[in-house]
Amino acid sequence: DSPPLVVVGSANADIYVEIDRLPKEGETISAKNGQTLAGGKGANQAACGGRLSYPTYFVGQVGEDANGKLITEALKGGGVRLDYLKNVTGAPTGHAVVMLQSDGQNSIIIVGGANMNCWPERLSDEDLEVVRNGGAILLQREIPDSVNIQVAKAARSAGVPVILDAGGMDAPIPQELLDFVDILSPNETELGRLTGMPTESFEQISQAVAKCHKLGVKQALVKLGEKGSALFVEGEKPITQPIIRAERVLDTTGAGDTFTASFAVALVEGKSREQCLRFAAAAASLCVQVKGAIPSMPDRNSVLNLLQSVQSFSY
Ligand code: RIB
Repeated sequence: DSPPLVVVGSANADIYVEIDRLPKEGETISAKNGQTLAGGKGANQAACGGRLSYPTYFVGQVGEDANGKLITEALKGGGVRLDYLKNVTGAPTGHAVVMLQSDGQNSIIIVGGANMNCWPERLSDEDLEVVRNGGAILLQREIPDSVNIQVAKAARSAGVPVILDAGGMDAPIPQELLDFVDILSPNETELGRLTGMPTESFEQISQAVAKCHKLGVKQALVKLGEKGSALFVEGEKPITQPIIRAERVLDTTGAGDTFTASFAVALVEGKSREQCLRFAAAAASLCVQVKGAIPSMPDRNSVLNLLQSVQSFSY
């Protein structure tokens, strides 16, 4: 049996408002449409693993409310194993206001709720056991650092690779967490925030990644939006991957999560670094063509078909 992907992280009800532009200070505007969809960086990444038919566990927390049910059902429908998803009574399910503009770009505000509260001071043996038995661990920054640190330490002690998606809170990443991270996955903005360096050109990005290497991060999987992505392994030449252009971009929400999670799936499947990047680029290209985060996660066949249709890309 393949060792599972274990995602520890947040779950949010994404409250979508579709607008032509952001409101100005003091202004009220009407949205063209509004709906609540399942999301949250942790849940999105777990849903991605499930949709790609890779055995995936989600370790997280939701409140005892309708939003918690919405997310639980969405993950269940996507084939994610929920044995370690807890319903807590002390906080509502986390939520996010997603302001989606006509060009598919978004601005998001998150409310932590059960993602940030009610975690036990020490994770249970069962929670840490599933981590130790994982093929890879995926973390993001929408739950307390103390939880991420415990998970990353347990994973390292068992020789399980840890991938940290730098998305989420904008507080600095504690060194105690970075010490146990095998692959850090920031976008350009997060890389800039982490290093305090400019990240506009590829040269600047390379220099910022060099600083990450100095902080102990051996590999950086950098998401560059329109410019594609690059994998930097300390002491080696970076591997770059252009985007696979989508026919139409409806909603970029969750595209970064899809990229990181599908890269992780390909990695645990033993694919080469180049194959992992291509697989992730194809999955992200499909994700932006559908509205919503969890609803937009592509299944494996769609990803493979897209890869096949793009010249000689193989998986
Ligand atoms: O990465 C996208 C996610 O960020 C959304 O689903 C939203 O919940 C926020 O966590």
